[in-house]
Amino acid sequence: MTADPTAVRRSALDALTAARERTSALTDCVEDSELTAQHSPLMSPLVWDLAHISNQEEQWLLRAVAGREAMRPEIDSVYDAFEHPRATRPSLPLLPPAEARRYASEVRGRVVDVLESTPLHGRPLVDAGFAFGMIAQHEQQHDETMLITHQLRSGPVALTAPAPPRTDSAGLPDEILVPGGPFTMGTSDEPWALDNERPAHQRLVPAFHIDTTPVTNGAFLRFVEDGGYRDERWWAEQGWDLVRGHELSAPLFWRREGGQWLRRRFGAVEPVAPGEPVLHVSWYEADAYARWAGRRLPSEAEWEKAARHDPATGRTHRYPWGDADPTPERANLGQRHLGPAPAGSYPEGESPLGVRQLIGDVWEWTSSDFLPYPGFAAFPYREYSEVFFGPDHKVLRGGAFSVGEVACRATFRNWDLPVRRQIFAGFRTARDA
Ligand code: AVJ
Ligand code: FE
Repeated sequence: MTADPTAVRRSALDALTAARERTSALTDCVEDSELTAQHSPLMSPLVWDLAHISNQEEQWLLRAVAGREAMRPEIDSVYDAFEHPRATRPSLPLLPPAEARRYASEVRGRVVDVLESTPLHGRPLVDAGFAFGMIAQHEQQHDETMLITHQLRSGPVALTAPAPPRTDSAGLPDEILVPGGPFTMGTSDEPWALDNERPAHQRLVPAFHIDTTPVTNGAFLRFVEDGGYRDERWWAEQGWDLVRGHELSAPLFWRREGGQWLRRRFGAVEPVAPGEPVLHVSWYEADAYARWAGRRLPSEAEWEKAARHDPATGRTHRYPWGDADPTPERANLGQRHLGPAPAGSYPEGESPLGVRQLIGDVWEWTSSDFLPYPGFAAFPYREYSEVFFGPDHKVLRGGAFSVGEVACRATFRNWDLPVRRQIFAGFRTARDA
């Protein structure tokens, strides 16, 4: 991205528009009664996400950036994610669907005017269009949250999309050696990078091997059928508690019927596809699989080095394929497809060393806790990242088919509790060299 204000305004408007198209698709495909219903205690009613997206947009772009008065001050607390846990949101005085949509379009109309007329320099909040990029990413993140709600919802299919492209990936090596040495982790110059991705700093990462592709359903099934879920040896202590407490025996949304493994995806039940990356496993299941396989999860630094570092030039890039933005040929992002492509797909997106599908397809659990980088400064609000730092959350990397392009970079850090299974998460494994 350049600092040319016309180009910045166009990128910001494109990102906001793309997010809104997805938000509309996710909320227009079901009846109003399904927007106000709670499909899972883990999630908000869809109509909460819809108005929360616009309330955040109003607070940051109309009030903080443009100094406008609150449009509806009485609703701020209803849409404050910290005041009300997800399970309690159905009982809040939520804007009904028609009002939420009207609020969303009024906010967006004013934001488009503000974007045209605000100077995009001189204040950290607006430099290079940061606040607009942050809000586009926030909406894309909630589009992913809403897609999870769709996955948890029961009932007939509401969302459809074409299958991802098929690639002949025969002959790929199982794993790739990443040589030891320092690399630059994080970023100080990516204009829309969020606070937890900053600043750029040197990390020394010893040589390691990493899987060429995410772990597949077929490989994971061997762990299941080898009794992996019944063997305490493979499990971290709290993981074993989870397995026994919830009687886990396979990834979420899988079930065995007549000698066959089936999975439910957005309302459709299909046989588990052996060549696709495994999805809907907790960190504990990923960790247990890796131990069973005689391997381990990669650390966050190893993942980022595999994704960004080119040992031939010593340079660290924005993406595995280089510095250019994602395209449909390079990565499965943006809910263009409603599932991951088979392992080994996207040769145009591979890293200089040949690691595939680091960006897109499935989020990848890492072994790392979510911690600040040296020199971290919360910006523009502590509740985005800082309050989540610590040993409770594990880092996920790389984005998934569910993530908007603007909310996915090789520096992007996602995090969640290690027990979570409804997110679009899989993993790949590593070992010391
Ligand atoms: C970065 C995905 C963990 O959904 O909790 C949305 C993103 N922050 N609204 C989340 C977020 C505020 C966040 N994750
Ligand atoms: Fe939010």
